[in-house]
Amino acid sequence: MISVTIRKARLDDAKGIAEVSKQGLKQKTWIYTGSNKYTSKRYKQLLDRLSPKNSTFKMFIAIDKKTKKVVGQLSYSFRKTGRQKHIVGFGWGVYPGFEGQGIGTKLLKYALEQAKKKGFKRAEAEVVVKNIGSIRMAEKCGFKLEGTKRKALLTDDGKYLDVYVFGKLL
Ligand SMILES: CC(C)(COP(=O)(O)OP(=O)(O)OC[C@H]1O[C@@H](n2cnc3c(N)ncnc32)[C@H](O)[C@@H]1OP(=O)(O)O)[C@@H](O)C(=O)NCCC(=O)NCCS
Repeated sequence: MISVTIRKARLDDAKGIAEVSKQGLKQKTWIYTGSNKYTSKRYKQLLDRLSPKNSTFKMFIAIDKKTKKVVGQLSYSFRKTGRQKHIVGFGWGVYPGFEGQGIGTKLLKYALEQAKKKGFKRAEAEVVVKNIGSIRMAEKCGFKLEGTKRKALLTDDGKYLDVYVFGKLL
């Protein structure tokens, strides 16, 4: 069984994080993101998001204690002001071949603890309806299915996918 360290991501983790997404898309384990490949635009967006200047986005990562490689990631975004400033939104993914070893659950539990400590009142995640792994993990961590957004995601292949909204009060 793999042993991982969970921590907040820094700008210098960008390459390792991008590699998780790239391999997920290349090896077709990340089939519910809507994307077919990892673009340079996406990498630039990741750098912006990890920049210390960005105050509405964080990422938590799982690092394999043996190889020191990033094997899982969880994005954590929120607003600073307005009527939704109490909400944190999550997105997640695990390196191909490392699924089913508890990495996703560890990341999600960690992010939920951090969000609660920061005073957020609600966590949200949107999951494509066929993404069984993510649905199981969300439910295991106390998220409730709140509804379905129909044709909410347009994929690179031109398909429209329905998306579940999961919510958890903190
Ligand atoms: C979904 C995902 C993030 C879950 O992370 P993980 O580290 O594999 O999850 P865990 O090992 O913590 O398992 C959580 C639960 O989900 C279940 N699970 C995970 N993947 C599953 C799958 N593909 N099918 C069915 N159940 C699955 C596990 O069995 C576990 O439930 P259990 O404790 O009742 O056995 C990961 O499998 C993944 O990245 N999958 C492919 C990409 C993906 O779907 N990304 C999500 C955004 S597109």
